[in-house]
Amino acid sequence: MTKRVAILISGGGSNMIRLVESMTGDHPATCVLVASNDPAAAGLQRAAAMGIPTAAVDHRAFKGDRPAFEAALQAELDKAAPDILCLAGFMRVLTAGFVQQWEGRMLNIHPSLLPKYKGLHTHARALEAGDAEAGCSVHLVTPALDDGPILGQARVPVQPGDTEADLAARVLKQEHRLYPLVLERFARGDLTPVFL
Ligand code: GAR
Repeated sequence: MTKRVAILISGGGSNMIRLVESMTGDHPATCVLVASNDPAAAGLQRAAAMGIPTAAVDHRAFKGDRPAFEAALQAELDKAAPDILCLAGFMRVLTAGFVQQWEGRMLNIHPSLLPKYKGLHTHARALEAGDAEAGCSVHLVTPALDDGPILGQARVPVQPGDTEADLAARVLKQEHRLYPLVLERFARGDLTPVFL
């Protein structure tokens, strides 16, 4: 049975695009919804242009009431009935209650080699630490931030003179390889981590 995938974004959605593009042919999943907490997220228009249903639930309307925001988001998800939820540049912290509803079915991509650099400013922190390599991770989402079981990682070298933007661009290229690969395996029921 083809798995139904919803993708949550907050911005441009380049990872979302790669995921949607990957779900063709005999792929075990299909994208049924792209949703965002920001109605102005450029990725929403990009998803619509690919023929994907979209939804926006503006978190600002809930004035810090995370459970109320998540209930509205969940209502959109219920309409699309996804089996798998992919966070792809989704920049809201989710409550434990929401995460538990999706536990084992929600993936996230994070721009660091977890467990290093959970949270924000990952590339700046890698540069500041003088790391020789950086990368990205796809993991199952658990209530603790950026902490669930790793499903895949891709590594890149840090080069002399790299700026944060240089490193972000190098890592993003690998995100675009890694996330589709992990999703395809996950949708087939394979949770063995992939290392690129
Ligand atoms: C990606 O680099 C992703 O790893 C990161 O946001 C970017 C979104 O880009 N996610 C996080 O930092 C999550 N904490 P995209 O909108 O072009 O996919």
